[in-house]
Amino acid sequence: MSFLQYFEEKKSGTLPETYRNLKREQMETRILEIKKKLGDKLFIPGHHYQKDEVIRFADISGDSLQLAQLCADNEQAEHIVFCGVHFMAETADILTSEHQKVYLPDMRAGCSMADMADIFQTDRAWTALEKMFGETIVPLTYVNSTAAIKAFVGKNGGATVTSSNAHKMVKWAFTQKERILFLPDQHLGRNTAYDIGVSLEQMAVWDPIHDKLEYDGNFEDVKVILWKGHCSVHENFTVKNIEEVRTNNSDMRIIVHPECSREIVALADDNGSTKYIIDAIENALPGSKWAIGTEMNLVNRLIRKHPDKHIISLNPRMCPCLTMNRIDLPHLLWSLESIVNGEEVNVIEVDAETSQYAIGALERMLERA
Ligand code: 13P
Ligand code: SF4
Repeated sequence: MSFLQYFEEKKSGTLPETYRNLKREQMETRILEIKKKLGDKLFIPGHHYQKDEVIRFADISGDSLQLAQLCADNEQAEHIVFCGVHFMAETADILTSEHQKVYLPDMRAGCSMADMADIFQTDRAWTALEKMFGETIVPLTYVNSTAAIKAFVGKNGGATVTSSNAHKMVKWAFTQKERILFLPDQHLGRNTAYDIGVSLEQMAVWDPIHDKLEYDGNFEDVKVILWKGHCSVHENFTVKNIEEVRTNNSDMRIIVHPECSREIVALADDNGSTKYIIDAIENALPGSKWAIGTEMNLVNRLIRKHPDKHIISLNPRMCPCLTMNRIDLPHLLWSLESIVNGEEVNVIEVDAETSQYAIGALERMLERA
């Protein structure tokens, strides 16, 4: 490879060619050596939706709330190699100290839901909504959002939420103001608000593409404004999938993530965050039968981990989250070796002003988590 090619790859964060043809065992040995060498100076958190080949090397696996808490509590690691998606690595950078660096092994590991709310759309929406509702709205954002959105929310007195604490945070938000703007996942917002007693008639939808509020009734009745975003993985569970399970496996319990649509959550037997689903399966009786509506790497792991239970995916044609899957062994090894060689790549750095406001939103959540 020419020097120019090498330089271009480093700059653009593209995996160097040399990592593409390595054997799995070679990569595993080199990763283990680096983990041993760096010891406590290195911390590898891994989200439950990561591939098994990566999760194997994570110091800890967790859902987004657990990983945010663990990063905030970890003071000794100088290098945090985040096996998850971009917004999670940003959150880790915001919650850690100056001497700690956060890396995302593959910069293409984004989140389509987080990309559905950009700061320009959000500023426009806020101006329009304040005209309609005055200063009666507090913003909440799912952690699956960019640092800029978290900063916007923090600046306006709001907080972040995860699927594990959404109920608590929505209830808190109603102690602050009369109305909530919930970004960017309409489904988590709708399912959570519904559970705590807000009727569907009291929920409006903000369409950020057309800068328009979708609502038929009297504006005075609106309690929750849902941002029109969604998860491109969880939207793949359909009413037909539920009907098929009910017909073919009538004794199966259906459990889904609240990023699924209201229809799916209403028809399922149970719903809850990633951790809630894992705990439900772990605590279930041997021989029990489950159809799970969430990301496929996790469902496959649960199937392997619990051979005494009969587990299927609610959608038999479901794929893993493609952006979570960007993190693989070659990228993990590349990230680790670049740290050891002092030529770090894919460092995630949130600027000081954004961090300062975003931390307010995250701390309001972590204090209550
Ligand atoms: P949780 O980890 O909060 O359940 O979120 C699921 C998810 O979609 C992460 O991207
Ligand atoms: Fe984003 Fe959905 Fe993938 Fe989570 S599962 S990273 S919300 S696209």
